[in-house]
Amino acid sequence: MTKTTPPSIIALDGPAASGKSTLGHKLAETLGFLFFDTGIMYRAVTYVALHRDMDLRDESAITHLAQSVQIDICPPSVKDGRACDVVIGEKDVTWEMRGGDVDANVSVVSAYAGVRQALSEQQRRIGLRGKVVMVGRDIGTVVLPDADLKIYLDASAEERAKRRYDEIIARGEQSNYDEILKKMIERDRLDSTRAVAPLRPADDAIIIDSDKLDAGQVFEQVMKLCR
Ligand code: CDP
Repeated sequence: MTKTTPPSIIALDGPAASGKSTLGHKLAETLGFLFFDTGIMYRAVTYVALHRDMDLRDESAITHLAQSVQIDICPPSVKDGRACDVVIGEKDVTWEMRGGDVDANVSVVSAYAGVRQALSEQQRRIGLRGKVVMVGRDIGTVVLPDADLKIYLDASAEERAKRRYDEIIARGEQSNYDEILKKMIERDRLDSTRAVAPLRPADDAIIIDSDKLDAGQVFEQVMKLCR
């Protein structure tokens, strides 16, 4: 009988709100791995750029920001559904970073080659230590192409918009389903058509369509692959 080793590097990619964070977090917790959501880094750079009133079309200034900004990720200090605290300077930006302004602009920032290079270098350094579930758009294709297990989590835009809508309402905030759907389709379009590291499944990724699966079922499917 051949003995197989469980994966030590898991790459988890997919479009907006496909359930990557929920799945990734649960996998990491179960396996005792680090959960690393790379979207946080692109969101943090975008948040700071907007906060400083920078011109987002200024690629060289935004790239310089990505190379220099200090993003702290710490264990959650508040039990409000967050997986971690995201702190920039002294400020907790965990939820502000998930707001409409960042959503609407993050794909412009993440399309810049210099921004991607600065952030993916850090992601790769951390990922290669192993025992990690890394979540993003280009983990299996660019950041960790030799990952032991690559999952591409997909779902229809309607289902994903519904999930994002429910998440926002559960946080006690206002939301509009049609707006979310429209903006999500546009963000996916920008993410998958950019020249550098576009959103797409790696050739050796296992594609899971979660339209008709709940979070628990997706988790079970992936755990089977890990075993
Ligand atoms: O949570 P959600 O799926 O809505 O987005 P996210 O994972 O937080 O990512 C926000 C944005 O960051 C994406 O729309 C991409 O533009 C960018 N991103 C990326 O380009 N590459 C990654 N590895 C992760 C995120």
